Amino acid sequence: MKAAIINQFGNSKVFEIRDVEKPTINSDQVLIKVHAVSINPIDWKQRKGNHKYILGSPFPIILGYDVSGEVIEVGSKISKFKVGDLVFGVLNNKYGGALAEFAVGTEVCFSHKPDNLSFEDAAAVPMVTLTSLQAFRDIVDLKEGQTVLINGASGGVGHVAIQIAKLMGAKVIAVASLKSKGFVEQFKTDSFIDYTNQDILKIKQKADVFFDVAGKYSFSKTKQLLNPGGIYLNPNFINSIVKMPLNMIHQMFTKGKKAKTFMMKHNNSDLDIIANWVTNGKLVVSIDKTFRLEQISAAHEYSQNGHNKGKNVIVINNSRNNAIINEF
Ligand SMILES: NC(=O)c1ccc[n+]([C@@H]2O[C@H](COP(=O)([O-])OP(=O)(O)OC[C@H]3O[C@@H](n4cnc5c(N)ncnc54)[C@H](OP(=O)(O)O)[C@@H]3O)[C@@H](O)[C@H]2O)c1
Repeated sequence: MKAAIINQFGNSKVFEIRDVEKPTINSDQVLIKVHAVSINPIDWKQRKGNHKYILGSPFPIILGYDVSGEVIEVGSKISKFKVGDLVFGVLNNKYGGALAEFAVGTEVCFSHKPDNLSFEDAAAVPMVTLTSLQAFRDIVDLKEGQTVLINGASGGVGHVAIQIAKLMGAKVIAVASLKSKGFVEQFKTDSFIDYTNQDILKIKQKADVFFDVAGKYSFSKTKQLLNPGGIYLNPNFINSIVKMPLNMIHQMFTKGKKAKTFMMKHNNSDLDIIANWVTNGKLVVSIDKTFRLEQISAAHEYSQNGHNKGKNVIVINNSRNNAIINEF
């Protein structure tokens, strides 16, 4: 099968398009024909080798977690899916493995693709929506009427986090650059702050949750913006773990305010909730640019630049042949 592989860690040029062995499945796995993949920052962080001390260097590596496609084969223990089902989800292999014609994951990775979404749209959905849902529901226990400040509101996680916070009845202060204002405000934010013109550490508004998606601040800097009992939440897991000891010292002097981090969990019941929201038009995941597999280096460069509006998608099997591909 055709795949984008890396044989070394490094910059976006390390990708090679190669023919490699099609993966085989265990009894608890599903084999899918991949139609589309979306890029998340974890993909380019792993390409650079940031996680090699945890995950090792099992070259050739196929990156990519977010995927949509068609079920080709199911293991004997699989009950939720059958051959021919159209699915989307987040793969749970070490380095993912989505940037290929075929990929595998266990049942917990996938949900049925909403009929109203193309494969490209569906591939954009899973990681950012699971992250935002689990952040607000499980990590900060967001309540109706509370205020969430989202720093990095125009990116993959940010634009979805706005919508899920609103679905949970919260008020949203969105922080992004001025050029992203129109994009962000379509999701019905309560207020907007342009970080290029205003120092958000000096704003008068207070929040119950400071969701630092862009990871530009710290608990010590933002605690004065939090209401009593408020939470500074940073999804950049490894950086946040390093800062935890210092944050715990700060927490002792902040009247119940807390710093938290978390990692998205694979959960197909949560994907079902998300599929339902998307089907009913309650949640929209927006695509910025679409690339072919052969353009994977350009796609990683664009994503790593960190100023996309929504998500970037790679088309692998364009069955409907109507995806609009960006030329670079
Ligand atoms: N813990 C987990 O399980 C988990 C899951 C998913 C993602 N993450 C992490 O979450 C982070 C964000 O992911 P993402 O997919 O949202 O990334 P992304 O799509 O690349 O985010 C890009 C956005 O960041 C904004 N931005 C850049 N510089 C900024 C600044 N100085 N202040 C405020 N906003 C700024 C940009 O807005 P402008 O263009 O307007 O500047 C852009 O819209 C990454 O570190 C990722 O690894 C963690």
